[in-house]
Amino acid sequence: MKPLGIILALIVYALPLTRAAYDLSRVDVTKIPPAAKTKVDFARDIYPIFKEKCISCHGPEKQKGSYRIDTKDGAFKAGDNGFNIIPDHSERAPIVLMIAGQIDEMLMPPPKAEPLTPEEIGLVRAWVDQGAVWPDGPIPEFIKKVDFVRDVQPVLQKSCLECHGAEKQAGGFRLDQKAAALKGGQTYGVVIKPGDAAKSSFLLIVAGKDEDIAQPEKHQLGAKQVELLRRWIEQGADWP
Ligand code: HEC
Ligand code: HEC
Repeated sequence: MKPLGIILALIVYALPLTRAAYDLSRVDVTKIPPAAKTKVDFARDIYPIFKEKCISCHGPEKQKGSYRIDTKDGAFKAGDNGFNIIPDHSERAPIVLMIAGQIDEMLMPPPKAEPLTPEEIGLVRAWVDQGAVWPDGPIPEFIKKVDFVRDVQPVLQKSCLECHGAEKQAGGFRLDQKAAALKGGQTYGVVIKPGDAAKSSFLLIVAGKDEDIAQPEKHQLGAKQVELLRRWIEQGADWP
């Protein structure tokens, strides 16, 4: 073999061996949202994020990149590029760098899907820095507390207030003030019963299941929003 051939052969055979870890030379730690300052609880803070934003591609049905994150074994198993979770080291744990878009071509979830918020990234980062604790055994189900200002108000603002706000109160109903909203409107009376979703006709109206309401299409929200409002009422319809 000529020297050039030997060199080429060496490169070709050595390539798979050197493909060991991600290129972290361009990681800019200052661009990763800061770690949450609170003590992170895996079941409460982290698993719900994995469930909502990762498991569709890394769960029981699909394992993109041969990776699954619905089980402890899967999440901590080494892949072709090494371990994805490196306890105590968010600055070089691929899972954190990926969700923060710090590894080329490996933004997770990929660009078309809904990205993690900076708060969620901060939680995952804190979880890794606090030792990436994943208790053994079944993971308790955690229902996220709905926050009125963060979650509910924007929905009402966008879909309801033009007719039920300060300027106009169709049906004598307004949704921009707590007392008025809980009092209800002139035909239906009370529609929101805090803590009792089953008796809150508000939910039938926004689910498009009330046939008597005027302009039903203006009242119908998407399934995700209806579920959010249902949880909000079920959890006591907090309205600070
Ligand atoms: C829409 C599908 C999709 C979603 C949602 C998604 N991923 Fe991925 N993920 C992929 C694909 C595809 C790959 C393989 C990419 C490659 O190797 O080029 C991958 C690879 C990975 C890897 C590398 C696995 C290995 O060992 O090589 C990790 C870690 C990862 N994803 C974490 C996550 C996390 C964490 C989330 C949620 C925050 C997430 N992914 C959400 C599609 C997805
Ligand atoms: C385009 C205007 C419009 C929008 C947007 C709208 N509504 Fe209405 N709403 C009405 C009208 C008109 C009535 C019926 C008034 C009547 O005939 O008495 C009504 C009645 C109601 C009532 C019954 C009030 C009563 O008479 O007791 C509720 C509850 C209600 N709307 C909730 C909502 C919610 C929640 C939203 C947002 C998801 C919403 N509405 C969006 C126009 C609107």
